[in-house]
Amino acid sequence: MQRARVWRWFWLMILTVTLSAAFLIAGPAHFQDYPGGNPERGRFIASGKCVACHGADGNSANPLFPKLAGQKAAYLYGQLRAFKAGGRVSPIMSGIAATLTDTEMADAASFFARQALRPDQIKHKTLASAGRSIFHDGANRGATPACAMCHDASHSMSMMGGMSMMGMMGGGMMAAIPGLNGQHAAYLVKQLDDFATGKRQSMMMNSIATTLTDAQKQAVAEYLSGHP
Ligand code: HEC
Ligand code: HEC
Repeated sequence: MQRARVWRWFWLMILTVTLSAAFLIAGPAHFQDYPGGNPERGRFIASGKCVACHGADGNSANPLFPKLAGQKAAYLYGQLRAFKAGGRVSPIMSGIAATLTDTEMADAASFFARQALRPDQIKHKTLASAGRSIFHDGANRGATPACAMCHDASHSMSMMGGMSMMGMMGGGMMAAIPGLNGQHAAYLVKQLDDFATGKRQSMMMNSIATTLTDAQKQAVAEYLSGHP
């Protein structure tokens, strides 16, 4: 009866412990190391090297190329550094990131973060409504945590409010958690598959993605793709 509630605390504990551990190991600097960038220089880089796939304003046309528009700059910067360092592998992005300096990554990140995100049209209403419930309430009788706990800024802030630890360090670390709203469904599903198989490594997402069925991945992705 209280099962979902117990799971909720379980995931909150995991979140606190992994974030604290990461914080202690990497140090506060790691989470605040997005140095800020110059969006005008970023626009120049974007129009030369990124436009073909991500679109001039970060709203890509191909659903397997992620939208970068409106994404958190610290997250974009962190992913570019991970592609270059090899922590995240993509046959396409690894090579491109290797050509960028840290400053160029920060500039490109600050440009894309300032662009307006255009969500997709929802194609399957029933699927999207199932996805909405997974996003806000979790699934599989609590084994899948509510995505909103981490991916919805307003929600996570209220949940973290009571925890002094998180209050202290939350700001910098939450900045590294991507927004998912308006992202292409096909890209989201591919990332969830990559997390589930371990192809893409993430302390938090690997175990969460393994709890989702293929149908649930499709549903949550369909919901998010149309959500502004
Ligand atoms: C040839 C196509 C192509 C070009 C050019 C390209 N990208 Fe990408 N980018 C991709 C693909 C495909 C992915 C998704 C990789 C995956 O599936 O993990 C991606 C992913 C990303 C991500 C991760 C987004 C997320 O939500 O995690 C960032 C950041 C990014 N690209 C930035 C850039 C920047 C900045 C440039 C220009 C300097 C650029 N890309 C040029 C194809 C491209
Ligand atoms: C405990 C916090 C937490 C919860 C709960 C959580 N996520 Fe995540 N998620 C993260 C973090 C942190 C990342 C960034 C991983 C990285 O740095 O590579 C992420 C990344 C992602 C990405 C990659 C986005 C991109 O642009 O590449 C997707 C997709 C995703 N999560 C989907 C979900 C879904 C769906 C749920 C709910 C079933 C969920 N997440 C629940 C923390 C969480």
